[in-house]
Parts: sequence; C-alpha cells; structure tokens
Amino acid sequence: MQPAGVMSGPIPENKDQSMSTYVKGLEGIIAAQTEMSFIDGQKGILEYVGIPIGELSEKSTFEETVFLLWNKRLPTQAELDKFTSDLRSRYKLPEGMPERIRSLPRTAQPMHVLRTQISALGMYDPDPNANLVEAAREKALNILGYTPTIVAEFDRMRRGLEVVPPDPSLSFAENFLYMLNGEKPTPTMARAFDICMILHADHGLNNSTFTARVIISTLSDVYSAITGAIGSLRGPLHGGANEGVMKMLNEIPSVDAVEDYILGKLERKEKVMGFGHRVYKTRDPRATALKSLAKQLASDTGNEELYIKSRRIEEVMEREVGAKGIYPNVDFYSATTYHCIGLKLDLFTPMFAMSRLGGWSGHIIEQLADNRLYRPKAEYIGPHNAPYVPIDQR
Ligand code: CMC
Repeated sequence: MQPAGVMSGPIPENKDQSMSTYVKGLEGIIAAQTEMSFIDGQKGILEYVGIPIGELSEKSTFEETVFLLWNKRLPTQAELDKFTSDLRSRYKLPEGMPERIRSLPRTAQPMHVLRTQISALGMYDPDPNANLVEAAREKALNILGYTPTIVAEFDRMRRGLEVVPPDPSLSFAENFLYMLNGEKPTPTMARAFDICMILHADHGLNNSTFTARVIISTLSDVYSAITGAIGSLRGPLHGGANEGVMKMLNEIPSVDAVEDYILGKLERKEKVMGFGHRVYKTRDPRATALKSLAKQLASDTGNEELYIKSRRIEEVMEREVGAKGIYPNVDFYSATTYHCIGLKLDLFTPMFAMSRLGGWSGHIIEQLADNRLYRPKAEYIGPHNAPYVPIDQR
C-alpha cells in the first residue's frame, strides 16, 4: 500500500495550457475593465473618470464625486441637486432597523455591525434580488444613505446616548458628524471629513472592490456584494490598516522613540501599518493630500505631537525602505486626520467603508452592465491517484 500523497498512477495530462500562469495574489493580472478610476503606481497618479484626485479633493464634494463615479461624468447643477436630495431622503433608516441596532451587543465591533446591518437591509427590501442596472443603482443609493445612520446610531447606543435623528438639510459629511456628536460640525471639520470621503471613494480593483464584483457576477444581489466587500475591507492589510496606524502612534511614547520602534519592527520583519502598496511604488497621491489635511487639523486641534510623530515615522521609513518603493499609503495620514476630527479608533475603518460604498456600487453597476461570471482556476499541486485508506488503517 502506498502512503497518501504518493502518486500511484500516471499524472493526468493538463490539456488546457491556454492561460495557465499562476500569479500569487493576482499581482499585475487585469481582471476587469473600468471607466471609474485610473492609477499609475509608478508616477503616483490617481484619477476618477480622468480627473486628478488632487483637483477633486480641492473642488468637489463627496456627493458630486459619487455622481461622477456612477455616471462617468460630472453632473449639471440640477442633476447634482436631485442626486443630493435623493440621497438625503434616504438618511432615515427603514422601520425596524433602529430596533435591530438597539438590540446589538454594546461590545460589538462597528465593522461587524456594519457588515451585518447592510446584510440585514436586504430583508427590508421587498425586491432584494432585482439586478437590472437601474434597480441596482436605487439599492446602492439606499445603502449609501443608510450607512452613516447605522454607524452613528450604533455608536450612540453603545455609549448609552440618545440617538440623534438624521438631518436631511445637511450634507453627507455634516449629517454624519452631527448624528455622531449631537452637534453640527464646524465648516472646517465637515470639509475635512468630506475630503477624506472623496479621497477614499474608489481605487481600481482593490481587494474589496474585486470581492464586490466577484459576488455580483453570479447575479446574486447588491446587499450580498456590499456585505462581502465590507468583510474584505476590514482586514488589516486593506482598510483595517488605518486602525493599525493609530494603535502604532499610541504605542510610540514620544517622537524620540520613533526611530527605535520602527527599526525594531523592520528588524523583526513586521509590517509597518500605513506603508507600502500593491500598486504604488512611489508616493500614494491620496497620502500626499491627507498629509496636508492632517497637518492643518493637528494644529487646529492641539494634536501637533501626533503629526510630528507621523512625520518622523515617514522619515525613518523613507530612509530605511524608500528604495524598495515603500511609502505612506492612504491609511497613514488618515489615522491622524480621523483622530483630529474626533472619531474613535474603531470607527476609522467604517469611515473608509462609508466612502468606498461610492466605488463598490459604481463597480457593481459596471459589472452588471456587462457581466460575465468570475470563475478563475486553481492550479492543483496535490497528489494524484492517491489510495483511499480505510479508516481503521490510517
Ligand atoms: N512595512 C515593512 N515592510 C513592508 C511593508 C510595510 N508596510 N510593506 C511591504 N513591505 C516589504 C515586505 O516585507 C516585502 O519585503 P521583502 O521583499 O524583503 O520580503 C516587500 O516589501 C513586498 O511586500 P509584500 O507584502 O509582498 O507586498 P504586497 O504588494 O503583497 O503588499 C501591502 C502590499 C499593502 C499588503 C503591504 O505593503 C502591507 O502589508 N502594508 C501594511 C498594511 C497597509 O498599510 N495596508 C493598507 C494598504 S493601502 C489601503 C488599501 O488599499 O486598503
């Protein structure tokens, strides 16, 4: 008898050699076409529908950016007004949802809450599986409108505070901060938050966007696709890195301690959160925009030490691993920015999700408009013709 794992017969011939190169992590593989965002990782360029991200973060709003991503063009004033008012009419949760949120454990993590509540929204939709492009858009708009309310209601519930109902006279960014804090944000804070939302809205075929496209390609439903995307985003190698950055900043006791802390991490071959990117081998343009925002907010809110620590980390990392193309990514300065806006650590990744809903939904719409089921292959590297060993002989 041969032990399991040993080939006992000829290896079946692999007749399909057509597209057979295995690339770990799918690096460099083009798996979709999109008209939404363009990234040049060598030059550090990011554009949404051709417009440089720096220009959008200066001149646009999150609402206008989502319209741009979903329609592949900027809106007229009338179109933007309609889109904004349609979105605002969806701030209030469907009946039954606030009770669900109140019944959740106060200790639940917000990303788990968000993932579960978005999934639950499918049960409140009388036609949850409708998948024509127009129906998908409608569902995406509902989810985008409801998401800030879900996050804010849960956060207030767990803090034992009265829920603050949404205010449809406020922008997406203003309304979220208002529901969270119970008071209207200053224009500077609201604008800073809006800019963060714009910068995180879309980014090519990142892991969570790919997840959303893979799920919707089975003609499943928008709720399932977004739920899956949220699950992907929360991983520490993806959107969860912003929390990791803040934890690191809290762990480093002073600016003087940065050098040893970072060198120690690199020596132990540990990843420094907020650095490196699969696509960018130079500065991530979003990090550049967030860096100046973080600097301004840190000075406005008395958090200069946090910013200076971040700068020092960046300097040490650049000196040590800059030559390998490892630079700050979007998550690095967003940690300081979110902290200065007053967000709690475990709300950082939900903020990313809230903004990336713009991108996920746009990709779902794109996928549905020209769908083909995602079904790649795995290269089998196990044994062949292995014997089935009876259980009493194993
Ligand atoms: N700190 C230290 N070394 C790093 C880092 C880092 N943050 N990132 C990459 N490296 C090194 C890595 O150790 C490896 O070195 P070597 O060749 O000597 O073994 C080399 O760079 C290549 O790393 P990799 O992990 O194979 O590269 P990847 O393309 O698979 O990873 C990444 C990209 C983002 C997962 C990785 O850079 C990382 O884990 N970064 C930290 C987590 C993070 O900040 N994630 C947010 C990404 S941006 C937002 C988003 O898209 O979600």
